[in-house]
Amino acid sequence: MTGSRIAIFGAGYAGLVTGACFAELGHSVTIRDIVPEKISALQGGAVPIYEPGLEELIERNRERLRYTLDAAEAVRDAELVFVCVDTPPTYSGDADLSRVWTVIEELPPSSERTILVMKSTVPVGTGEKVRAALDARGLDHVGYVSNPEFLAEGTALNDFLEPDRIVVGAFEEADAEAVARLHAGIDAPIVKADVASAEMIKLASNAFLSTRISFINEIANVCELVGADVVRVAEGIGLDHRLGPHFLRAGVGWGGSCYGKDASSLKQLAGNSGYHFQLLAAMIEVNELQRRRVISKLQKHLGSLRGTTVALLGLAFKPGTDDMRDAPSLVIASRLLAEGADVRTWDPIADARDRLVGARQCDSVLDAVTGADAAVIVTEWDELRSLASPETLGAMRRPLIIDGRNLLDPDDVRAAGFAYEGIGRASSALDLLPETAEPDLREPARED
Ligand code: UDX
Repeated sequence: MTGSRIAIFGAGYAGLVTGACFAELGHSVTIRDIVPEKISALQGGAVPIYEPGLEELIERNRERLRYTLDAAEAVRDAELVFVCVDTPPTYSGDADLSRVWTVIEELPPSSERTILVMKSTVPVGTGEKVRAALDARGLDHVGYVSNPEFLAEGTALNDFLEPDRIVVGAFEEADAEAVARLHAGIDAPIVKADVASAEMIKLASNAFLSTRISFINEIANVCELVGADVVRVAEGIGLDHRLGPHFLRAGVGWGGSCYGKDASSLKQLAGNSGYHFQLLAAMIEVNELQRRRVISKLQKHLGSLRGTTVALLGLAFKPGTDDMRDAPSLVIASRLLAEGADVRTWDPIADARDRLVGARQCDSVLDAVTGADAAVIVTEWDELRSLASPETLGAMRRPLIIDGRNLLDPDDVRAAGFAYEGIGRASSALDLLPETAEPDLREPARED
């Protein structure tokens, strides 16, 4: 099969994964970005984002991948132009579409039929607006298709090449067919829809995923009060074939560049359209409060946090990525600093030094927990599975582990001499520590 010629605007997470995977499928791809450092890095063979397997995939398909700063060069003889720019929330919570409009304004006049494919997540109704803008500029030979991405960081290549579904929303059937053909070689159902429904599928999917998380987090919070174990509860819920086991892991809350942004965009869209999306508003608030519950857990064990030392283990919004966008660790660290605690942090790849001014970023878990009154697991990196070790016990000032992702087994942690506090699980207080513990370990931190 001869590949198509594709232009991609945006060399960020979605753009690079989409470009590399289309090249893997045999298409010729030119990726355009406005940041010179990104383009020069890519032209030099370096990949400016961390995504497992992406560097190798790009290297394997380098013959079909080009990079440029020049919009005209990118779209020259391109049959399809993918918009993969970010659409962050504005102060009002509406999606900022300025980067999308810039791409459209930069589309050079051409007589060739081209299809503009919106990969970026946009509010429902954006396709209508873009269609009108294209027609107003006499670009009625430019088609428009909504083809939202469902890429999760850490599994993005698999999410693209082995997706649950491919969504294609178009005004013209021929355009839908052209985009569907691009994905030949991928075995997945193609959901053809009108543009508005395709746009809504993306927003509703993310909102539903994050709602499941906020739901199980609230169940966890009730479990703590009634003596149930949310891990067992989630297992029992997940065996119902109508619910399934996924996205029922209680923790310190969801983060990342999508859930908060998309929930805010959908809530704003509903509000702007005359509907108050109550469940969505509650889901967002539950998540904000869930991150802050770590502070009250620490206060329960340590009393005032002023003058205490707390180790935050794991900073990225989830394991398998260095992405700090909307990471729960940022809120937790800021709250601890505001309470007067000394904060030591560790993450295997994320670097938060510029974001967490006042916290000390450590190079190892042992360094981070040295002298700490508590160790908090914020991101469930595999390296933390061995946290409850004799080395950690010897290094900490108080042997308290707050397991923000229920990564560890409470019985094993207690048997190793630590007090354990999970999310939605039974907790053991410092005063129940084994006799071997030094007496002053059981006293809450002194008031300065
Ligand atoms: C998400 C969607 O999964 C993806 O389909 C969409 O295209 C983009 O947004 P991503 O944000 O990369 O992907 O990560 P995801 O794996 O969904 O996790 C998001 C957050 O939810 C993380 O902070 C994670 O820790 C948290 N989470 C996830 C939970 O707290 N509990 C769970 O059970 C699952």
